[in-house]
This record gives sequence, C-alpha cells and structure tokens, in this order.
Amino acid sequence: MDQDEFLMLGIAGSLRQASYNRGLLRAAAEVLPPGVSLDILALDDIPLFSADVMAGGDPPAVQELKERIRAADALLIATPEYNYSIPGVLKNAVDWASRPSKNSVLRVKAVGIMGASGGDSGTIRSQMALRQVFVQTNSFVMVQPELRVPNAGTKFDAVGNLVDAELRERLRAFVAALVDWARLVGSRA
Ligand SMILES: Cc1cc2nc3c(=O)[nH]c(=O)nc-3n(C[C@H](O)[C@H](O)[C@H](O)COP(=O)(O)O)c2cc1C
Repeated sequence: MDQDEFLMLGIAGSLRQASYNRGLLRAAAEVLPPGVSLDILALDDIPLFSADVMAGGDPPAVQELKERIRAADALLIATPEYNYSIPGVLKNAVDWASRPSKNSVLRVKAVGIMGASGGDSGTIRSQMALRQVFVQTNSFVMVQPELRVPNAGTKFDAVGNLVDAELRERLRAFVAALVDWARLVGSRA
C-alpha cells in the first residue's frame, strides 16, 4: 500500500436523499487526514441479488461496486438500523460483493463501520449484525473506536448535513483510526 495516497470507499445503507448516514459520509470527506481521499458510492442501482442473474454475469452496477471496493484501501460504511438490524439495501450489496466467496473483493479488506439513527440506539444493533456478516467474508473490521450517532435529528439539518461540531471531531478521529487500521491489517484483494 502506498503510504502517500490512501483511497477510502464510502457506502451508506440508505437511499434517502436527506439521509443522516449519507450526510455522515459527506462530512467524513471533509475531515480526512492528508493524503487520504474518500470516494462515495450510492447503492441506488444495485439490483436485488439473484444467483441466476449472477450466473449470467454481474450486472453493470455490481461490476462497478466490486471494482470500486477492489480499488479501495478501506471501506467506510455508514449504516442505519432497520428493525434492529442491517437495512436490506446494504445487506444486498454486501451479498453481491461477497461472491465469488473464495476470492471476493471483501476478503482481507479493511472496513470501518459507523452509523446514525433517529432513536437512541445509535445503530449499535445493526453495527453488530454487520460485523457478523463480515466474519463470513473474512473482512477486517476495525475493532475500536466505534462511532454510533443516536438522536441524529439533533446533529444533522433538514437536508442531512452534519451540523454538530463535537460529532465532526469524533468523525475526524474515526477516519484517522481507520487509515491506521488499514495500514496495519489491510491489503487490496
Ligand atoms: C423500516 C425502518 C426500520 C427502522 N428501525 C429502526 C431501529 O430498529 N432502530 C432505530 O434506531 N431506528 C430505526 N428506524 C429509524 C431510522 O433510524 C431512521 O429512519 C433513520 O433516519 C434512517 O437513516 P437515514 O437517515 O440514513 O436514512 C427505522 C426506520 C425504518 C424506515
């Protein structure tokens, strides 16, 4: 891994325009360490997973997903919590990216998981569920720090932009820790 350039790929588990989690990724792009860039990929065009479709070749949006994960030094995921777990759009994208299982782009990929929710859980349950998924894909999820954002309505404005200075500093520390983590454990698949 080049010590001077570091590419992070950001994926939010929400398609909502004013999503707190998409806003969290945009804010992350503003607090990166020097030499680090963040590319954000929206999941709107990823079709529902089907092994039959996959057998005929990955659809273009899935090819792009895999290529951009492969090119990244670390994956930064911002996930909502839906009914105590991972939103379907995010799990669906992870399922596509996890194939072929022995040689997937998620294998030995450094991953940071964060999340914002409207309630007071701060997405801890969906984060833990996602960690379990990444055991199967043999991805290297950063252990600590965690970044949970409860009561996100008080920290983002009506269009989903982060307006909380304290959270912005925690986010700065989180992305810096992810770069360190990736340099310790990660490699490109
Ligand atoms: C189907 C559904 C299930 C939800 N379940 C939870 C939940 O289990 N825990 C929670 O804290 N918030 C839950 N929420 C509220 C979300 O935290 C809230 O909609 C949040 O804004 C979603 O993230 P986003 O702003 O990035 O879209 C749920 C929302 C939806 C639409």
